[in-house]
Amino acid sequence: MPDLESQASYVHSDAQQQTISRTDKQSKESPGCGDVADMFPDAKVIGSDLSPTYKATPAENLYFEVDDCCSEWVYPPDHFDFVHVRFLYASIADWPKFYKECFDHIAPGGYIEQSEPLPALISDDGSIPPGDILHRCSELAIEASQKFGKNMRIALLIKNMIKEAGFVDVVEKQYKWPVGEWPVDRKLKDIGRWNMQHWLEGLDAWTLRLLTQHCGWTPDEVKHFTANMRTALKNPKYHAYQTITVVYARKAQ
Ligand SMILES: C[S@@+](CC[C@H](N)C(=O)[O-])C[C@H]1O[C@@H](n2cnc3c(N)ncnc32)[C@H](O)[C@@H]1O
Repeated sequence: MPDLESQASYVHSDAQQQTISRTDKQSKESPGCGDVADMFPDAKVIGSDLSPTYKATPAENLYFEVDDCCSEWVYPPDHFDFVHVRFLYASIADWPKFYKECFDHIAPGGYIEQSEPLPALISDDGSIPPGDILHRCSELAIEASQKFGKNMRIALLIKNMIKEAGFVDVVEKQYKWPVGEWPVDRKLKDIGRWNMQHWLEGLDAWTLRLLTQHCGWTPDEVKHFTANMRTALKNPKYHAYQTITVVYARKAQ
């Protein structure tokens, strides 16, 4: 699944390319790190995740570490020129503690960047009416994450939290990720193609545990729901998209 996120992120990656266009010596990244390692062959890039998700043959300047980003970071202070955080959604219980680790370990003048999606599927033309299954899906994700004490809409909070952690020159950008090839714009069409596949392949994994453990559904009810969701997602009458928030900021010299 991260590979599909990587592909869609790669297509929309203007902000990332602006942010890291300085010469980075040390960079800490999540999967998607292969792109950065290729773009900056002089940088040492570390990809990090709780599970060994990175499958591609790594570039020579790319290292992958299985690590819990919520635990104390073992690198020296002021170590990284760039920390890139992508799609952690509701994974982190204590965001201020996480950003403090980022701040302490980024060198003065270095950057942080985070991309997070909102789970809601929306449309600008009313093609997803109220009560539609596409709305229901995001309502369920939010309800379930509240029940297990995490926030699925972290995208709304990252700008302020990054500022509160001490970073300066905080920039927030919003991007649309369509689901499906409905947009006329070629770049959005490309993103929509990848994002559709991401949704079709990801739905079961995203919903099974949340809905059975926190909302009282049976596994069969979840399977039935995700099958209906997949059918709906493929229906061209919908012009659905989700919003991706990208925030980047600098640690002052
Ligand atoms: C939606 S995936 C995104 C993967 C990747 N960052 C990307 O953008 O392609 C969320 C990832 O967060 C990882 N994750 C969750 N909690 C974590 C933690 N405490 N430390 C490190 N990684 C974590 C999961 O293992 C999963 O691979």
